[in-house]
Amino acid sequence: MKITTKINLLTTVWMLCILILINFVVYISFMKTTINMEEDTLFQKAGDIVNEINTKQSQSEIEDYLSEHSYIRIIEPRNKIVHEVTNDKILSKKIKGKYTKIKQAKTYLISEEHGEEQVLVVRVPINNGNQFKGSLEIGERLQGLETRKEILRAILIFCTIIAALLSLLGGRWLANMIMRPISNMIKTMEEIEKSGVPKTITIQNKAKDELQTLVKTFNRMIDRIQINMDKQKQFISDASHELKTPLTVIKSYANLLRRRGLENKDLADEAIKAIHSEATRIQKMTDTFLDLATLEKVNVLEIKEVNLVSLCKNILKQFKDVYRREITLHSDGFPIMISADELKIKQVIIILLDNAMKYSKDKIDVFLEKNQQHAIIRVKDYGIGIPEGEINNIFERFYRVDKARSRETGGSGLGLHIAKGIIKLHKGEINIKSKEGEGTEVVLFLPILE
Ligand SMILES: Nc1ncnc2c1ncn2[C@@H]1O[C@H](COP(=O)(O)OP(=O)(O)OP(=O)(O)O)[C@@H](O)[C@H]1O
Ligand SMILES: [Mg+2]
Repeated sequence: MKITTKINLLTTVWMLCILILINFVVYISFMKTTINMEEDTLFQKAGDIVNEINTKQSQSEIEDYLSEHSYIRIIEPRNKIVHEVTNDKILSKKIKGKYTKIKQAKTYLISEEHGEEQVLVVRVPINNGNQFKGSLEIGERLQGLETRKEILRAILIFCTIIAALLSLLGGRWLANMIMRPISNMIKTMEEIEKSGVPKTITIQNKAKDELQTLVKTFNRMIDRIQINMDKQKQFISDASHELKTPLTVIKSYANLLRRRGLENKDLADEAIKAIHSEATRIQKMTDTFLDLATLEKVNVLEIKEVNLVSLCKNILKQFKDVYRREITLHSDGFPIMISADELKIKQVIIILLDNAMKYSKDKIDVFLEKNQQHAIIRVKDYGIGIPEGEINNIFERFYRVDKARSRETGGSGLGLHIAKGIIKLHKGEINIKSKEGEGTEVVLFLPILE
């Protein structure tokens, strides 16, 4: 069943229930007040008759008080009817006379050919000194009430039908109003499914309601998907562009070798060296691509307790052995414990040291400190530095300050991007301070283990 039909049916059924309840209350209170009013008039009449009997000491004129379909009786104790006038024999036969000492009113239901009919009977005591002791009883068919009841019933039924129809129409309007943005969304989703192109929904209603929030959230999600798709496209085009250059170099040197390389030993040497170095670059690059891809996945960290001091000592030793550069570790020697993915943190430090070595010729200093919340690693070089306007850009994928220079140094512009991603996964922070011509200091903050 469609939601619109469901909403429609439910509202109508609910409306009908409410109406039936209201009708019931109206009907009951109408009956009650009408019977009360009839009672009052009959008591009034009984009072008048009793007065007359008392003053005139005669019961002969009570006939004047008869109204349509009624009877009047005077009854002595032990229910003995001493006088009765009536213009409805059937009625007076069906209702038995009853003596009473107190004022009372009662309704009876008597069966008639066309159904049941209500009869109102009032009884009042007659008391004129010691002369006579008895009670007066007046019975009257509530015929007016029957017709009014019928009219009321017809009106109520008519109103209920009209209200049900209106509620059906209103429900349909309401359901359509609610469903319109949802239908729009379904349409857009189907279009997206068919074409594969993310598309946002145009917001039609100005009201700031849940449906608008739904549409806005959907649009935000689509925007995010769009941005990610754009990023992916950008990445693929950047990556293939990056790969193209070394491949072209390799291809041209290979061609050269094929044509005349083997005759000329120097040329062959140069070609092989170039091919080797470019191939190494491609290899490094593909490794970083893989790193990037794993970074985009969530929960890739293998967290354990890591002592930063010994980790840095090991890395620095390797670097000093391989590159023969002056790299100094400054720390108070006390272990600094963090919970982190050791390999990833090692990768970050290597990225920073690699940069420091590539972009400086002088010594390199590594400082290890901690404050109350963070372990702080500072990698400082005294090299070419980064122009002030570029500091914000260098974390972008494939961004290099000076493309020509970086080509020489063999970078692909991914190192800092990857480093930042890893630090972010560890809920840490990476900051860069640099002055062109004077040097660069990269500062890492990593949450410390208590
Ligand atoms: N210590 C530094 N001194 C001077 N410039 C730096 C330093 N570190 C980074 N840069 C600049 O920032 C750019 C981006 O650095 P990043 O490490 O991301 O890439 P890369 O070193 O060029 O290549 P990769 O690290 O991927 O091999 C570098 O190209 C360089 O211009
Ligand atoms: Mg680098």
